[in-house]
Amino acid sequence: MDGMMVERSTPQALRPELSGSHADASAAPVETLPAWTYDNGEFFRLERERLFMRTWQLICHVSEVKNPGDYATLDILGERAMVVRGKDGVIRGFVNVCRHRAARVVAGERGNCSRAIVCPYHGWTYGLDGKLKAVPAETSFPGLTKTKLGLEPLAVEVCHGFVFARFAGAGPSMAEVLAPYNDVLAAFRIEEMEPIGPVWWRELEVDWKNVMDNYLEGYHVPVGHPGLHRMLGTNYQVEVGTYGVARAFAELRDKESNNWSERAYQRLLPEVEHLPEALRWSWQYISWFPNTALNIYPDQIDFFQVIPERPGKCWIRAIPYGLKDDRRGMKAARFLNWRINNQVQVEDEQLVQDVQEGLKSRVYSVGYLSEKEVCLRQFHDMIRSHLPVAFTRTPPATGMVEAVDRAMATS
Ligand code: FES
Ligand SMILES: [Fe+2]
Repeated sequence: MDGMMVERSTPQALRPELSGSHADASAAPVETLPAWTYDNGEFFRLERERLFMRTWQLICHVSEVKNPGDYATLDILGERAMVVRGKDGVIRGFVNVCRHRAARVVAGERGNCSRAIVCPYHGWTYGLDGKLKAVPAETSFPGLTKTKLGLEPLAVEVCHGFVFARFAGAGPSMAEVLAPYNDVLAAFRIEEMEPIGPVWWRELEVDWKNVMDNYLEGYHVPVGHPGLHRMLGTNYQVEVGTYGVARAFAELRDKESNNWSERAYQRLLPEVEHLPEALRWSWQYISWFPNTALNIYPDQIDFFQVIPERPGKCWIRAIPYGLKDDRRGMKAARFLNWRINNQVQVEDEQLVQDVQEGLKSRVYSVGYLSEKEVCLRQFHDMIRSHLPVAFTRTPPATGMVEAVDRAMATS
């Protein structure tokens, strides 16, 4: 790397002035990730390997794999995860790739494979524990050792009612990541919930980080989301924890909104008796590194997961869940919640699409972050800590991103 000049920015963690509530006015402002990282194929490949293949990915809710043979899948960045409940009640994870010739062994996002997983291509048959049980015309494969050809296992964890899988690597469990919010999450009884709407996929010509950037800060709410601002006012609080967990929290305002949906929600949302008083009228957003969050409302929760497809393009996957509650007020509140947050989504999509274009401008290389954007600061610091090349303001030469990353990791 001799002779390579990189202009290096400083992460928040190395800026002691930011550990308190007021930054030193003479200090340098805190910088965002550089713009080039939002649309660069080599950087994207590093993100795939270092972030997405090594972090827990939310696959489904336990209610979606309730019975033996029930399965759920998630395709992400060219890999295919599946989780399936065994006859013994244990949920296991596998790579959804047949050991014969790589076909998908289970189809679709949800399903039931009864007593065995039968590959639809040539019929290789696996137990719900992943072991290869039967091969049609087995004698035509001399030397084949069935015991070595089970489905490739994945690490699986069930935490607060959600099933997570991880392709590789070690690191904190989801229980450790979510530990600061154990009491809050337990209060909502998420394990007992069921889906109350279909899976929602949204395709965006926007980098996955841009979507998370937008999700992780409430600084834009007063200007970017007039409706949300009418609902939450200035009650918005943000905090960060270990392992990239973060929370935004706001109590609903007493003052009635002048907007029909918002006012109706404020009036009709019924008491949710099992919640502590402080949570009955609050909206919360708990997120964790790198790409997932829970939107937690008194009437329902939904997860929000950003699935990258390529540099500058991603999908959002979301599913709402709720407890069984037939009260008319609850049904109305859930519908109104959808209306209100659908509008928020429309507003956010315009913002992030506009930002994605702006990031390409030759006059923009890096932005600046407020103390109100503390969750976003944490997100960018974590990306830099996993991918030190993100310290460089200008993109390394083509073919050099990984080499610069390695050099910076050891410097
Ligand atoms: S690819 Fe699965 S049985 Fe052939
Ligand atoms: Fe937003």
